[in-house]
Amino acid sequence: MGQHRQILLKNVHCTDQHTIAGYESRGGYSVIRKVLNMEPAKVTEEVIKSGLRGRGGAGFPTGKKWTFIPKGTDKPVYLVNNADESEPGTFKDRVLLERDPHLCIEGMMICAFAVGARFACIYIRGEYAYPYQRVRQAIRECYAKDYLGKNIFGSNVSLDLVIHRGAGAYICGEETALLESLEGKKGQPRLKPPFFPAIRGLYDSPTVVNNTETLAALVWILENGGEAYAQIGTAKSTGTKLFSVSGHVNKPGVYEVEMGYPMMQFLEEECGGIREGRKLKGVMPGGSSFAILTAEEVAKATLDYESISGLDRTAHLGSGGFMVVDDHTDIVEVALNFAHFYAHESCGQCTPCREGGHWVQKIIQRIARGEGLAGDIELIDSICSQVQGHTICAFGEALSWPAQAFIRKFPADFKARIREAMEGRVQHRVPLNYEFQAAH
Ligand SMILES: Cc1cc2nc3c(=O)[nH]c(=O)nc-3n(C[C@H](O)[C@H](O)[C@H](O)COP(=O)(O)O)c2cc1C
Repeated sequence: MGQHRQILLKNVHCTDQHTIAGYESRGGYSVIRKVLNMEPAKVTEEVIKSGLRGRGGAGFPTGKKWTFIPKGTDKPVYLVNNADESEPGTFKDRVLLERDPHLCIEGMMICAFAVGARFACIYIRGEYAYPYQRVRQAIRECYAKDYLGKNIFGSNVSLDLVIHRGAGAYICGEETALLESLEGKKGQPRLKPPFFPAIRGLYDSPTVVNNTETLAALVWILENGGEAYAQIGTAKSTGTKLFSVSGHVNKPGVYEVEMGYPMMQFLEEECGGIREGRKLKGVMPGGSSFAILTAEEVAKATLDYESISGLDRTAHLGSGGFMVVDDHTDIVEVALNFAHFYAHESCGQCTPCREGGHWVQKIIQRIARGEGLAGDIELIDSICSQVQGHTICAFGEALSWPAQAFIRKFPADFKARIREAMEGRVQHRVPLNYEFQAAH
């Protein structure tokens, strides 16, 4: 990744970076000291200038979101770091939490100061046992040095920070379900409006929810200025982005890339190309919740919000969960894998999602088993069309858009299986992973 500027991953290879001594030896906690002498509004202004957009999936402008916190509110303001990271194919926050936890904390301090939060929380994915230990240790180190608690860094600002572990529900990454969960309730998304927790969030108080990567980027932005950040990347997709690369590539891993970089070049030069000399079939660049891009689309795409969504309205840069499939992959099985996940993870609150997810899974499963019926492809498409737009949160789109893209872009894979079934050519199939798991 030599030619890409390293803003977030710069120090993750230093073996003591997770300790406060290691972090401070590389300039850590110098930016918050500077920020504490600034006007909070000026901090927000720098973030607006930077053009930073939320890295949790939706890509909403970060500075603008902070301005939704009501001015002069008499309620406490809260900050939540969304470290739930449960999107299939996404594991970039994990690297930050585990290898550079103080960078995440310093980013939170900057945000808390800007929005006037005196209490902050890191909501961390329950399965992230090791990152949890690292972050917990980092918080303890900060309290021991009075970097957290009353009058942080000797200023007149106080900030308390706690860590809260999730319990394995993907939906708790959705910001309002996350807040419900934090309040000790069932993790189910809240009705909108209000559209932003900044208006009514944790315990009915104004709350900023930002993704771990978003918050970590603030340290560089406040050190170098919003304009410097805006110079990196493209006009509308500024800065660098972390990509969690998995699938049929030679060099999977977490990469930091300047926005606007050509996708095919990234795949071939940085990720080492498709493994075993095979050909590319497609890439899901934004995690499991958005459409797959075909090899032809990948050749035209650059790694930024506008390019990806410009090629396919239902594709998105999302969380940067970059999943690659080669030409030996049967898209029916990929689709089944995804459908199984969404059927399992629906919180069950909205009927179209709760029922539709299972229907989609069952239909794809029968196609995969060699029991598909004529009209099944159209049926999947019709169910998905009825789910999206009819649910409280974006889970409805997350289950529909990828499924529709699979059948729209790779109809031959589905038709071949259905044809085999109709012609009675399927004798016996070995159970698929999911059927096997379900049976045991
Ligand atoms: C079903 C679902 C799951 C989500 N999971 C996550 C997650 O694990 N981490 C995350 O940061 N955002 C997740 N989000 C997005 C959050 O709701 C929210 O937009 C984000 O945390 C805001 O932070 P950002 O502006 O910094 O991106 C999810 C959204 C949905 C609909």
